Amino acid sequence: MSRSSTLDCATHMNNIKEPPPTDKLLKKDGRDIRRMFASIAPTYDLLNRLLSMGFDRRWRQRAVELSGLSELPETGQPQGVAPTKCVRVLDVCTGTADLAIAYSQKIGPGGAVVGSDFCWEMLALAPEKLKTLSPKDYAHITLVQADALHLPFPVNSFQVASVAFGIRNVSDLERGIREMARVIRPGGRVVILEFGLPESRIFKMAYNFYFNSVLPRVGNLIAAVGSSERTRAYAYLPASVGEFPDARGLRRLMESLGLTDVKSYPLSMGIANVHIGKKP
Ligand SMILES: C[S@@+](CC[C@H](N)C(=O)[O-])C[C@H]1O[C@@H](n2cnc3c(N)ncnc32)[C@H](O)[C@@H]1O
Repeated sequence: MSRSSTLDCATHMNNIKEPPPTDKLLKKDGRDIRRMFASIAPTYDLLNRLLSMGFDRRWRQRAVELSGLSELPETGQPQGVAPTKCVRVLDVCTGTADLAIAYSQKIGPGGAVVGSDFCWEMLALAPEKLKTLSPKDYAHITLVQADALHLPFPVNSFQVASVAFGIRNVSDLERGIREMARVIRPGGRVVILEFGLPESRIFKMAYNFYFNSVLPRVGNLIAAVGSSERTRAYAYLPASVGEFPDARGLRRLMESLGLTDVKSYPLSMGIANVHIGKKP
């Protein structure tokens, strides 16, 4: 795993138990967001499975399927070497690398996946998972500590830039998407998996109760972070989803940033959406 020289989560290690209050987190200052994820990192995977009732895995797999890996442009090669179909994916805000692993499994050996995240404590949980992947079946995964707003990769480096449940947390959504688009080749895809709000009225009522009342309580209890209602990390999740653009708004934004063929695919009645745009 390589570390970006400009970022160093280790400096926050002594101060990670108590995440900032929800209203401060919603301002999306990078240091606060990083501190919050550092504080919940040890229970992040467990809570993902539990609170999504296992759906999170299926959503990531669906995002991979919808990425259209077989239609991607060929990769750049050194001059004089014929281009190949070797697929290179960048998964930003990769956290504990679950989406990177899902891509790696789909691509298989020969391709490459880079997972980047600015929170060392989240990334540090990934190598244990990567150890279990056989190089015979999986594309090689490299982990890099980096800010999604300043990706340390040249233009046209990948065919896919993906993000799962991460772009909502970056302080500058436009810039985050621009950076993803910058590093992919023409014809490549930006793939965004993010929470949404269900459209069916009845389901929405039940879901809102779960999402706003049950989930933060269970999350905070298990993550054991925070000392008051305002300082509990899992209260930030529904609050940040509520502030995030809806599917139409996000599509418009992606189009305004130059992506084409932008489509949204609702998952589980709209609890999550995959948004995909192509770099012309
Ligand atoms: C909800 S987790 C999602 C992790 C993973 N993608 C998944 O599907 O489980 C959000 C991740 O985004 C990362 N993150 C938030 N803002 C970031 C930024 N500006 N640059 C890099 N990583 C960021 C956090 O550190 C955290 O690991």
